[in-house]
Amino acid sequence: MSELLIARDLTRHYQVSRGFLKGHATVKALNGVSFSLAPRRTLAVVGESGCGKSTLARQLTMIESATSGELRIDGVEVAHASLATIKQMRSKVQMVFQNPYASLNPRKQISSTLDEPLKINSALSKAERLEKVKAIVAKVGLRPEHIHRYPHMFSGGQRQRIAIARAMILNPKIVVADEPVSALDVSIQAQILNLFMDLQDEFGTGYVFISHNLAVVEHVANDLLVMYLGSAVEYGDKAKIYARPLHPYTQALMSATPAIRPEDRRIKIKIQGELPSPLNPPTGCAFHKRCPYAVERCSQEVPLLRQIDGRLVACHRVEEINV
Ligand SMILES: Nc1ncnc2c1ncn2[C@@H]1O[C@H](COP(=O)(O)OP(=O)(O)OP(=O)(O)O)[C@@H](O)[C@H]1O
Ligand SMILES: [Mg+2]
Repeated sequence: MSELLIARDLTRHYQVSRGFLKGHATVKALNGVSFSLAPRRTLAVVGESGCGKSTLARQLTMIESATSGELRIDGVEVAHASLATIKQMRSKVQMVFQNPYASLNPRKQISSTLDEPLKINSALSKAERLEKVKAIVAKVGLRPEHIHRYPHMFSGGQRQRIAIARAMILNPKIVVADEPVSALDVSIQAQILNLFMDLQDEFGTGYVFISHNLAVVEHVANDLLVMYLGSAVEYGDKAKIYARPLHPYTQALMSATPAIRPEDRRIKIKIQGELPSPLNPPTGCAFHKRCPYAVERCSQEVPLLRQIDGRLVACHRVEEINV
């Protein structure tokens, strides 16, 4: 299958001021991440707050340029492309955010919010655009008369449906969804996840689905990328990783998610301490200070991703601790 998206060593660093006369420091928000995505597939990206998930989303949607690395979208290298190329590519990757209320213009009727991307990116007539708006509104499960309403006249779940309609109306190749159900009631979450899956079935869109919650992505993901402090620690087939997580960090995330088949969770690991600062990451394995299995080597040598049991894992001791 031809890949829609290929990221190689994607890196984003931020220069931040340390204060008056103290010079600058570098935040290593994204530290060389590689993965790929095929049409009709969903890659879930999980990890704690601050591990670089939204930074990754901003690279994939070309809102920000990468510090280094490669990003190929639908065959075109975009990480270091010209502004003209990026402009052309942007409509192929759309984004859905966590808070639909903040991402919709409160002063615009839904019809005009949905019309705007068509106006900018297509040569359709006004009547043709209205037909498209009506069609997508129906597909996301809203009623025709809803297009004359303003965002405040909807429930949270309905607002997220509108945000999804706006993302899908240009028929993008890829949708990046950053915590798209975290702000919703649990009962509504499943409906919105099902909507994502129905639309993917129909349009063949590739999804990058970002969440801090492993229970949320279990049913939508094909592949899973577990991130820790800007790097991938485990990456591969979702079913394999959920059935038997191999990295101690993935194991800890799983055992902290009681909704995932608790009876199968043999390994109980508690993550100690807080996520270290990407301004001053630990030497060696970034996880070693919180890892119950860490030995001296872990504090000295950065573990590389290695192919183990059908997925990639970055841990020096992965074989010893998973016997
Ligand atoms: N523009 C920026 N300038 C400086 N540092 C930044 C910038 N954007 C993000 N960071 C830092 O990069 C790191 C990763 O941030 P990011 O927002 O990607 O995390 P996240 O995984 O999305 O977290 P959350 O789950 O809370 O949304 C954080 O330490 C953050 O403070
Ligand atoms: Mg985020």
